Amino acid sequence: MSTVHGPLSTSSDISDRSLAEAGEARIAWAESQMPVLRQVRERFARERPFEGVSIAACLHVTAETANLVRTLAAGGADVALCASNPLSTQDDTAAALVEVHGAEVHARAGEDPDTYYRHIGAVLDKGPQITIDDGADLIGVIHGQRTDLIPAILGGTEETTTGMIRLRALEADGKLAFPVIAVAESLTGRQLDHRYGTGQSTLDGILRATSILLAGQRVVVVGYGACGRGVALRARGAGAHVIVCEVDELRALEAVMDGYDVMPAETAAREGDVFITVTGNRDVIRREHFELMRDGAIVANAGHFDVEVSKPDLEDLTVERREVRPLVVQHVMADGRRLHLLADGRVVNLAAGEGHPGAVMDVDFAAEALCLEHIVRHRGELEPRVHRVPEPIDREVARLKIESLGVEIDSLTAEQRRYLHSWEQGT
Ligand SMILES: NC(=O)c1ccc[n+]([C@@H]2O[C@H](COP(=O)([O-])OP(=O)(O)OC[C@H]3O[C@@H](n4cnc5c(N)ncnc54)[C@H](O)[C@@H]3O)[C@@H](O)[C@H]2O)c1
Repeated sequence: MSTVHGPLSTSSDISDRSLAEAGEARIAWAESQMPVLRQVRERFARERPFEGVSIAACLHVTAETANLVRTLAAGGADVALCASNPLSTQDDTAAALVEVHGAEVHARAGEDPDTYYRHIGAVLDKGPQITIDDGADLIGVIHGQRTDLIPAILGGTEETTTGMIRLRALEADGKLAFPVIAVAESLTGRQLDHRYGTGQSTLDGILRATSILLAGQRVVVVGYGACGRGVALRARGAGAHVIVCEVDELRALEAVMDGYDVMPAETAAREGDVFITVTGNRDVIRREHFELMRDGAIVANAGHFDVEVSKPDLEDLTVERREVRPLVVQHVMADGRRLHLLADGRVVNLAAGEGHPGAVMDVDFAAEALCLEHIVRHRGELEPRVHRVPEPIDREVARLKIESLGVEIDSLTAEQRRYLHSWEQGT
C-alpha cells in the first residue's frame, strides 16, 4: 500500500471502510495508466504549491479522481471530496482514499438527493479556498446559499460542458464571484476526454449493462458535439449503423460529411435499436419519440444530467415496469412494446461502467492539477470570470502525454519559423 499523504480524516461519510484494500488496487491500476499525472505529483511533492490550501472537490469518486486527490495532497493541499453524481461513486475507492490516503470523502454509491446535497454542504463547511466542480454543483450552492464562503475563495475549475453552461449563465448575469478555469474546454481535454473517453466508455457502459451485439444495430446518437462524435465513431467501429440527430446545422453538416445518416429524432425514433443522448439539453427524447420506438429499443444517456431522456414521459406511458438486468429497466407500453431505459437515464458510462479509462483522465486531471496550481500562483490576479485553460498548460500536458507514449515529433526549423511569422514572404 502507498504512503498516506494528507492529514488523517475523521469526518468522512462513506459506505464501507473495509473495502479499502480493493479500492487501493483500483487506484494503483489507474495510476499505472496515468504517467503524466504521476510526473505532476512528483513535482508537486517537491515544490508543495498548495501548502495549507483547502480544496473542496465535487467529482466522480473513481480511482482516477483518487489519483488527482493524491496529487493535490502531495502538493500540500487539504482536500475534501464529495460525489458529482450519486451513481458513479466507487465505494471501494472512497474507502481507500479515506483509510489509506487520509483524504476526507463524503460519498456513498446510490445516495439519495438529500444525502447528495448534505455531502456538498459537508465539503463546503471546510471553508475551501479552491473549488473543483464537475457539473457546477459546488459553485451553484456557493452562489445560492453559501455566499459567506466567497471572500476566502481564490478560484475554481469546472470539468464538464454542462457545468460550463451554468457558469456562463452566472457570468452573463454578472454574478460570478470568483475566477473559474474552464478545464472542460482545454484542447487536450476536448480531444481526448470527450471524443475518445466518452466515445469508448459510453459504449462500454451500454455493453456491460445489456451485453448486446453492436454489429448490425441501428444506433441513434442524439447530439453531435465533442462527445457525440466520439460515440458515433466508436459505434461505427463496432459495426453499428449510426444515425445522428442534431439541431445545429454546422454540426449536422459535419455528421453528414462524416458519413452518417442525419435525420430528426422523430424519424430516427422509428428506425433505431439503441438511442444515446449526449446533448447537455433536456427532453431530447420524450413522449412523441417513445410512442414511435420499436419493441426492444434501448435508451441510454451519456450527457451530464438525467434530464436528456424524459423520465416523466416514459413513466406516463408505462403500464408495467421491471428490472430485467441490473441497471436495465423494461418499460412495457400499452400496446405491448418493451422499451429499456439504462441506469435510470443517468450518465451511462459512469453509472453502468467505470467512466473514462485512466489514460484519458491522465490528461484531464494533469491539466486540472496545473490549472489549480495556476490559480494559487496567481492568487489575487485573476478576474472573477470564466477563464480559458492557459495555452502553455495545454501544450505542457500534450507534450508530457506524447512523451509518455514514446512518441517523438518534429520541430520547426528556424527558416520555417520565420516563414510562418512573416508577411513579406509569399508567392
Ligand atoms: N459521459 C461523459 O463522460 C461526458 C464527458 C464529457 C461531457 N459530458 C456531457 O455530455 C453532454 C454533451 O457534451 P459535449 O461536450 O459533446 O457538448 P457539445 O456542446 O459539444 O455538443 C452538444 C450537441 O448537442 C446538440 N443538441 C442540443 N440540443 C439538442 C437536441 N434537442 N437534439 C439534438 N441535438 C441537440 C448541440 O447542437 C451540440 O452539437 C454534456 O452534458 C456534457 O456535460 C459527458
